[in-house]
Amino acid sequence: MKKVLFVASECVPFIKTGGLADVVGSLPKYFNKDEFDVRVILPKYQCMREDFKHQLQYVTHFYMELNWRQQYVGVLHLEYEGIHYYFIDNEYYFSGPKPYGNIHEDIEKFAFFSRAALSALPLINFQPDIVHCHDWQTGLIPVYLKDKFHEGQFFVNMKSIMTIHNLKFQGIWDVKAVKDITGLPPYYFTPDKLEAYGDANYLKGGIVYADAVTTVSNTYAEEIKMPFYGENLDGLMRARSNCLYGIVNGIDYNEYNPETDPFIPQHYNARTFRKEKVKNKRALQQELGLEQNDGKFMVGIVSRLTDQKGFDLIDYMMDEMCQQDIQFVILGTGEEKYENMFRHFAWKYPGKVSANIFYSEALSHKIYAACDAFLMPSLFEPCGLSQLMSLRYGTIPIVRETGGLKDTVWPYNEYEGTGTGFSFANYNAHEMFNTLKYAMYVYYEKKRDWNKLIDRAMAADFSWNTSARKYEELYYRL
Ligand code: ADP
Ligand code: GLC
Repeated sequence: MKKVLFVASECVPFIKTGGLADVVGSLPKYFNKDEFDVRVILPKYQCMREDFKHQLQYVTHFYMELNWRQQYVGVLHLEYEGIHYYFIDNEYYFSGPKPYGNIHEDIEKFAFFSRAALSALPLINFQPDIVHCHDWQTGLIPVYLKDKFHEGQFFVNMKSIMTIHNLKFQGIWDVKAVKDITGLPPYYFTPDKLEAYGDANYLKGGIVYADAVTTVSNTYAEEIKMPFYGENLDGLMRARSNCLYGIVNGIDYNEYNPETDPFIPQHYNARTFRKEKVKNKRALQQELGLEQNDGKFMVGIVSRLTDQKGFDLIDYMMDEMCQQDIQFVILGTGEEKYENMFRHFAWKYPGKVSANIFYSEALSHKIYAACDAFLMPSLFEPCGLSQLMSLRYGTIPIVRETGGLKDTVWPYNEYEGTGTGFSFANYNAHEMFNTLKYAMYVYYEKKRDWNKLIDRAMAADFSWNTSARKYEELYYRL
């Protein structure tokens, strides 16, 4: 039996800000239970889901040194859907209104969390063969495993994997402060280790010291070896390329299932969508005050509102797009300029544009079910889960060919009758617009072809079955 510990800063259903939480919350369930014991360790945030907070069981507590600091570490436990979850408790670090806040606070918060997660292992009597770390918040773990923890018998054979969900976020802060926080000796703070361009960089430390590095799609694994996508670490990615693997994400096919989804008004499946799916559109038009019209081409967007997702292209083209026979439903939060941009267009085009500037799991499911198409013109996209959710609900993705979008959406070919969506190559607003217009043309003029696109989209399999096997292989190889 191989033992694996996932360490992450967010996880569905306890706490979520983006796709990382979906992955950490679903992947562990898909490993072969006879061969793998996969457990998850998370921070116990004050802002985690209230109903779960009350179910956590106290396991133990101790005091831990974080350089000169002495900090309380509580350990709580919950078994949920067959998985063991551990939560690290410390009110000083984890009581903010959100998981992340000021970077200088987060830098100390996640140094504490990384060290506490390792320190807790002997006490919970779990000795993993592999510690699987996710994103910069856990980048210090491979470093600690090679440093202090290496001296103890308990940790000596432990391997680590660093999975990059987004290279944009690296956990960068000044060397002096990070030395003071982590207690790591000066040896580590050179450009071949934790230092990058004069600062300390947690993710870089993780990438340098992990036994294997993975990222969440094949295309992104290639892209980050180049300067445009490499976020200043492309050289390191090239240097580590013999241990760098791209494994595409899946989604939880039980949670995202149009046949059973408790959030959507009308259930449907790959056979019944022709008659039933539109009832979800009708209900959403009514709920959001859009023009009531079954035939209207409805485009959904569910996203963090950041530059990564291509919103400057949408900003540039929105007026022209709204001259079309179209409806937009947006759900998202993030940068103020984009929140206000969508509020503005909703005001300017009432009945046509609905801007929902908040976070709602229920509304997100309704949008995936109701819309005809889903727009995701990302500047870069390590994997992207929203397009997978859309495919699952027979909502046709319109995407830019980058990262995971390129690997999971197969462009429509009208001559061969293939493809599951529409895509364009260049980061260019007119290319996006032309692709959208082409999709509209198929929708309005070639309904049978559009329905066949939906057939293929709903038949595509992005459950975890294939990708979980790839992680299993990697665990064995280590
Ligand atoms: P990223 O992780 O870069 O934000 P992904 O496509 O991988 O992008 O995952 C985004 C996840 O967050 C999806 O599950 C999506 O449905 C969800 N999501 C994003 N914004 C919202 C929102 N405002 N309300 C509900 N769910 C959201
Ligand atoms: C990041 C990426 C997204 C990916 C998600 C889960 O948030 O931006 O593309 O799907 O992580 O791996």
